[in-house]
Amino acid sequence: MNDNYLAVIDSGVGGLSVLSELVKSAPNNNYIYFGDNSNAPYGNKSERQLKEITIKNLDLLLSYNLKAIVLACNTLSVTLLSFVEGYSGLPTFGVFPPVEKYLMKGERVLLLSTMLTSKKFMPSERLHVLGLKRLALDLEYNKFNARAIDLQSNLLDSVGYFINKKGYYDRVILGCTHYEFIKNKIYDHFCPRKISSGIEFTTKNVKNFLSSDKSLVKHKENQVLFVGDTAQENKNFWVCSGRKW
Ligand code: DGL
Repeated sequence: MNDNYLAVIDSGVGGLSVLSELVKSAPNNNYIYFGDNSNAPYGNKSERQLKEITIKNLDLLLSYNLKAIVLACNTLSVTLLSFVEGYSGLPTFGVFPPVEKYLMKGERVLLLSTMLTSKKFMPSERLHVLGLKRLALDLEYNKFNARAIDLQSNLLDSVGYFINKKGYYDRVILGCTHYEFIKNKIYDHFCPRKISSGIEFTTKNVKNFLSSDKSLVKHKENQVLFVGDTAQENKNFWVCSGRKW
């Protein structure tokens, strides 16, 4: 029997939006949540810097028994998914902005993401791509206090012209897991027909993986172990076990 953890990784609090879906769709598991606050934001780093950081983080995480890794971060997923899979030798899942899916349906799409993620998508007439320099970090500092976030100034930071696009898009895609915490604010700002992200697809894939491997242990309830920056320095892990979400 294989009684080990599913590691969930992000630059900070953003991946909690993925973890909360995972524990609902794939309950009875042991999770390790790794929030790399000291290196946030990932989206303003170069791919090389991000790789160096990720190697250190994986070395720490691989000291645990892991059954799989979930990159609960679009930036990590679009840049380093296959690297992480190769380095760890473990099944690795990512969160990807589902841009193609909605372009193929003929929709007019706005992708909001970090700078690094935005570089992976080619804008076109029906796809507008807005890389945001500060928003993820603002959310990291303000945790779950959506009211403290000045979305307008974050958008102006980038390209003032998007500000006037109320009601223009069929769909806004949240290409950063931090943005989930201000989903309503983003919706009210752009008034699209729909707002989406890649999280649903990720959780479905993880669920399928977990149910296909019968050797994995089922627990009575979810257990979550949080490992973060402070943990790395102090070796003083915050263990949160048996918690129900
Ligand atoms: N939450 C992450 C993402 O989905 C990273 C945000 C950041 O640290 O820049 O891209």
